[in-house]
Amino acid sequence: MRNFTLSEIAQHNKKDDLWIIIHGKIYDLTTFLPEHPGGQKVILKCAGKDATSAFDSHHPPDMIERFLSPDVCIGQPVMEKSHEDNANIKRQQTETDEEERIQLARKNMPSIDELYNAYDFESVAKTILSDDAWGYISSGTDDEITMRENHSAYHRIWFRPRVMVDVSKIDMTTHMLGQKASLPFYITAAAFCKTAHPNGEMALTRAAGRKDIIQMIPTYASCSFKDIVRARISSNQIQWYQLYVTRDRKATQRIVEEAEAKGMKGLFVTVDTPELGRHLKEMRINNQRDDPSEMETGEGTVSVSSFFDPSLNWSDIAWLKSITKMPILLKGVTRLEDAVLSAQHGLQGVVLSNHGGRQMDFAPSTIEILPEVMGALQREGLDKNFEVYIDGGIRRGSDIFKAIALGAKGVGIGRPFLYAMACYGERGVERLIDLFQAELTMCMRLMGAPTIADIKPDMVDIRNLKDHFVANPTDYLAKYAYERMQPRGKLSKL
Ligand SMILES: Cc1cc2nc3c(=O)[nH]c(=O)nc-3n(C[C@H](O)[C@H](O)[C@H](O)COP(=O)(O)O)c2cc1C
Repeated sequence: MRNFTLSEIAQHNKKDDLWIIIHGKIYDLTTFLPEHPGGQKVILKCAGKDATSAFDSHHPPDMIERFLSPDVCIGQPVMEKSHEDNANIKRQQTETDEEERIQLARKNMPSIDELYNAYDFESVAKTILSDDAWGYISSGTDDEITMRENHSAYHRIWFRPRVMVDVSKIDMTTHMLGQKASLPFYITAAAFCKTAHPNGEMALTRAAGRKDIIQMIPTYASCSFKDIVRARISSNQIQWYQLYVTRDRKATQRIVEEAEAKGMKGLFVTVDTPELGRHLKEMRINNQRDDPSEMETGEGTVSVSSFFDPSLNWSDIAWLKSITKMPILLKGVTRLEDAVLSAQHGLQGVVLSNHGGRQMDFAPSTIEILPEVMGALQREGLDKNFEVYIDGGIRRGSDIFKAIALGAKGVGIGRPFLYAMACYGERGVERLIDLFQAELTMCMRLMGAPTIADIKPDMVDIRNLKDHFVANPTDYLAKYAYERMQPRGKLSKL
């Protein structure tokens, strides 16, 4: 391996000639730059420099080995005395305003037992997360209409509770993809969980394991896949794998084979990202940090990725089936025809998901389409051995109940677990699981449904579900927790 001095490396700091240092190795990322799923800008910021800490905050250590060709590693840096001194001086520089703000907010955090529902965690997370992290996690696409609608649609479903049922014992155990789980909800996949907490996905694994719920591991995890698997509480802890199919089908195949070998019990292929959605909160934060004028052109600011394969289509299902024996489900279905096609292609199920409102704004809320999806599958005789999952906007035990009543086998929950982890680490995730369980217990008892099998479609009144014009009760908790980020810099003066 060749040695280069830091001044030599610093020369390669342009789009068409771009080196960076990560963990003591130099990588030439010139060709990879346009393909980076997180956009070009973050890499350009580190061009010609040591990017280790920026890299570590989002990626697992083995990310480059797993996803890129070995040729990108071109050498290792050697220190010159003056650079060592500069680096030390930089490290000793005073904390930024933001770090001080976060430290103070952390000091003022309520104790964990003062938090009573998912929104409480979101409210605290809003104060303690960095602008970058809050922007990344809380964002939806464009005007965030779908993101909000995901939850508010649940307000248009009312209950028809039964009485005189023996509800002295409530049993929430269920089966998903043939595996037993204590509770009918799972932690869904979110890329780069270290943005929320330094222990990232491993903290989610441990909390999920202790509470016996399923965790879906993202392709773009920030901990290494091996470490996430090693973090299991027991050898029979259930994990699923979320897959992004990339243009490099061989690399995708290797990832699928590794997932199967490590005991993943389901492969969830994300199908709603031929291009990444525009998350304006994130874009504003990043732009403002650099050069607000770039906002006007939008050049290089959108996390558009050419890494994912936009050509993915129904004819690829045969290939997916040929490379794994894991049950395959499509994640990101938002209309009944695609659910029916999935069943006709012999898949094991779908996740009705609009990516938490992060992809297509004005895609329907997922709970709104659940009844029509179930109806279509039943009409076509495709509802046996085909499981329908749902995620997006689930914030209450009663939301979980409503989704199950309408036919969901299980529900995925995303942001709330990230917020809980950001605030209190694993303990926060466990507390939130307990709170969802407590809410669902109360809901099942008051609804007269002692087991999951007793939760029936006639227990919910969905006559208003399709009516987007009905008045909803104001969701004060959600409203309070929702917005922190106002446009700043030039935009705020408009
Ligand atoms: C920060 C963040 C990152 C995400 N990353 C992924 C991902 O890598 N792959 C994926 O299929 N879905 C991803 N999602 C979507 C979630 O799997 C899920 O569909 C969504 O979060 C559910 O909505 P909720 O956050 O309202 O519960 C992500 C969501 C968030 C909030």
